[in-house]
Amino acid sequence: MQDTDDIGSNPTDNPALAAMIDARVSRRSLLRGSMAAAAVGFFSGGALGARPAAAAVGQRPGAPRQLLGFSEVPTSAADTFVVPPGYEYEVLIPWGTPLSPTGPAWRKDGSNTAAEQERQVGMHHDGLHFFPLGDGPERNRRGLLVVNHEYVDQVLLNPDGAATMTPDKVAKALAAHGVTVVEVRLAGGRWRHVESRYNRRITGTTPVAFSGPVTADHPMLRSNNAPMGTLNNCGHGVTPWGTYLAAEENWNGYFGTDSAWTPTPHEARYGVTRGGFGYNWHKAAPRFDLAANRNELNRFGWVVEIDPFDPTATPVKRTALGRFKHEGATVTEERGRAVVYGGDDENGEYLYKFVSAKPWRQMRARGRSPLDEGTLYVARFDASGSGTWLPLEWGTGPLTPAGGWADQADVMIRTRQAADALGATKLDRPEWVAVHPHTGHLFVTLTNGSNGPDPANPRGNNVYGHIVRIAEARDGNTWTEFGWDVFAFAGDPGYQPEGRLVPAGQPLFGSPDGIWADPDGRLWIQTDISNSAQNLASRKYDRIGNNMMLAADPATGEIRRFLTGPRGAEITGVVTTPDQETMFVNVQHPGEATTAWGTPTVSNPRAVSNWPDYDPAGRPRAATVVIRKTGGGKVGT
Ligand code: FEO
Ligand code: CA
Ligand code: CA
Ligand code: CA
Repeated sequence: MQDTDDIGSNPTDNPALAAMIDARVSRRSLLRGSMAAAAVGFFSGGALGARPAAAAVGQRPGAPRQLLGFSEVPTSAADTFVVPPGYEYEVLIPWGTPLSPTGPAWRKDGSNTAAEQERQVGMHHDGLHFFPLGDGPERNRRGLLVVNHEYVDQVLLNPDGAATMTPDKVAKALAAHGVTVVEVRLAGGRWRHVESRYNRRITGTTPVAFSGPVTADHPMLRSNNAPMGTLNNCGHGVTPWGTYLAAEENWNGYFGTDSAWTPTPHEARYGVTRGGFGYNWHKAAPRFDLAANRNELNRFGWVVEIDPFDPTATPVKRTALGRFKHEGATVTEERGRAVVYGGDDENGEYLYKFVSAKPWRQMRARGRSPLDEGTLYVARFDASGSGTWLPLEWGTGPLTPAGGWADQADVMIRTRQAADALGATKLDRPEWVAVHPHTGHLFVTLTNGSNGPDPANPRGNNVYGHIVRIAEARDGNTWTEFGWDVFAFAGDPGYQPEGRLVPAGQPLFGSPDGIWADPDGRLWIQTDISNSAQNLASRKYDRIGNNMMLAADPATGEIRRFLTGPRGAEITGVVTTPDQETMFVNVQHPGEATTAWGTPTVSNPRAVSNWPDYDPAGRPRAATVVIRKTGGGKVGT
């Protein structure tokens, strides 16, 4: 899928963060070279782009003084996966892997049926988590791997590609979406998935429940079919009570129609169009026909809670977290409350956080979900370097009956419009959020965008993206004020003016997307350069090469490239075992159509990539990659 998120649906005059960054950068240009110290903790008016000293960031005692200990890998345009010297990797659970050793086996010509796909690992791996099993050291060798499957490449999914949509092809596509749960074990120096009572697929047709302010019987959710399925599961979250959150991102793309239909303002605000993303499911499945089944789309755009330890548990859409294109749902905890951060990944959309009404242990002890009751906020960034979380609370501010808001359920179904009314700040495609384990600082990837209002501004056309750092007031994740600055501008300083803000010596990268802070506070940054830009000089991406993962030390600001991926792929999703000696990373959409290398076809699905099998009669497939240090040791050191 190329650039669909770059097309915004936000018609408001709400302010854009890019404009504030431009203003702050030009003010700071007077100070350039002075390395003015940042005000750390609460960056009020903090020096944009300057990095705080290690001591101020408060490294955890016992964490290695030097967080980054590996040798940087070069950029790559090859169809390979590359890790630093002294590291090794193996490929685990590629698309089509049977959940059970007894099959059904993957067929490399794409001819597996929908029923078979339901018992195989899905396509296009994205967010992932490792839930340890057992006790003591066993927890580093055994666990449940839970993986999101964001979307499918219909050319690679079927023997006849994307031609002529049929009910069977829609069924197979739905079966390749969703989430995979598999038990994995380390034995004899290799990780393998094993037969397990936990192994499970959740797909686009799995029965689901709704909880929170919006219930399944809400008039706007009444549809011709029972509530089912989760789609476009991008990033994820992990709750302190041991469940997995799958975020529904570009759900609008699955719907379309060939009948008379005009979008309501609500549908238009969510980017719903008669053509969708061109999947054409509506031609074979009335469930996805906008004219025939108008409300089905309101069942998507939620965060879905999944209990990986109970294979019979129904996934629950937690509607108190709002409805938008959820990139992810990063969970942290403060004063016992569950706090969930998430971006709405589309050009010009917003950043949100949810705070549970009461401490999560107390709520769960009373049989209530901490994700059903609480306050959803949207971020307003101010040019001074401060910011405010604005509550999306029915009955307050503009969110009243006089303002056209019926109740809290209405606010949650039309979250984008409620955030518009509050004056939230438009962002350049907010993707993942990492919470630093020691400081509570947030690192938010803004992958790229065009919300700068003045083309003369250096980042008005933000092709490379940047990472915003947020310090909540009193370093508390439940407070409503924050300070912010830019942790890193991505890019290639060889290109002006877009590369102007990239410090000399910083590794080339662009379009940051996945981000995760490991238990030592090491930041892992993953890129998702669009396949319409990857490796192209015309898009100022020729020297950056394939997508990659980098590691950063938030204390020193140092960034180092850790791995590079194969052609056409993005790198997304990262987690380690508790001892940090095994890392799991996902490679999504290898071999997708690219402007640089071409387009996979039915006769040549390998036109762009043949990773990871390199089978002359096979096809590329997304997979989880397991990375370990040869001889042992923490990954990254
Ligand atoms: Fe699914 Fe915004 O990446
Ligand atoms: Ca992403
Ligand atoms: Ca992507
Ligand atoms: Ca992305």
